[in-house]
Amino acid sequence: MATVDDAVPAGESPDPYHEVVSDPRRRDFLNIAAVAFPVAGVVAVVAPLVYQMNPSADVLAQSSTEIDLSKIEPGQGVITSFRKQPLFVRNLTPKEIAEAEAVPAASLRDPQTLEQRTKEGHKNWLITLAVCTHLGCIPLGISEGENRGKFGGYFCPCHGSQYDTAARIRQGPAPKNLPVPDYKFTSPTSVLVG
Ligand code: FES
Repeated sequence: MATVDDAVPAGESPDPYHEVVSDPRRRDFLNIAAVAFPVAGVVAVVAPLVYQMNPSADVLAQSSTEIDLSKIEPGQGVITSFRKQPLFVRNLTPKEIAEAEAVPAASLRDPQTLEQRTKEGHKNWLITLAVCTHLGCIPLGISEGENRGKFGGYFCPCHGSQYDTAARIRQGPAPKNLPVPDYKFTSPTSVLVG
């Protein structure tokens, strides 16, 4: 059967195109070059945008929230904000801690232990976003006297999701536990969120 090379008349120099396609090393180079040029163009355009989108140190600092825990007694909580979202800070009682620890994590819809949701040595401090993971309502339960639902944590009045004392989803349509943001203790009585 005739091949492309066979089709070049004797004595004539082969069509340069045929050379290209029949030399794997050149073909690879051309393919790489064909890909590299558009990519280089994209990098040249996108890089300045990415640089501009990187938050500066002062913007990052503004997006952190320092919380004074010294006035929050066991059984109390406060609602504050973090990056424009409501944030719950709760000082759990020994009873609330025991209730959370009595539940096997594997039995939960979103399996997490209280230990995994708090910092070592500070498991009484439960810090979560105050945003129901169903459709984003603010659950009740942070203030004394509010409905805390069947599991003693938070109750979402929008569609009835119920969270336990570790703010883990126990009943209702919410798919996930209330999210725990990044935070660290900066002293025994203050935390920096973000
Ligand atoms: Fe909370 Fe629907 S938004 S249950």
